[in-house]
Amino acid sequence: MLFVNREYELRVLEEALSSSKSELVLTYGRRRIGKTVLLKYFRRKHGGYI
Ligand SMILES: Nc1ncnc2c1ncn2[C@@H]1O[C@H](COP(=O)(O)OP(=O)(O)OP(=O)(O)O)[C@@H](O)[C@H]1O
Ligand SMILES: [Mg+2]
Repeated sequence: MLFVNREYELRVLEEALSSSKSELVLTYGRRRIGKTVLLKYFRRKHGGYI
């Protein structure tokens, strides 16, 4: 699957990950909008398991 867009959302996640403080990011939205795919993409990008 080709992952598209989500540049703003990825920036928010990148900033939280690189922060020196503790961070909590909430992911919400209507069904099938791409929440799970976004978080899996981010996890894979940073070496997490699939
Ligand atoms: N960034 C994206 N690029 C391409 N396709 C996407 C993207 N985000 C979502 N999709 C497509 O939309 C489908 C639904 O995405 P996903 O399962 O992540 O939604 P969800 O918000 O987690 O839904 P639910 O609320 O039902 O859990 C995916 O299977 C994928 O095909
Ligand atoms: Mg989901």
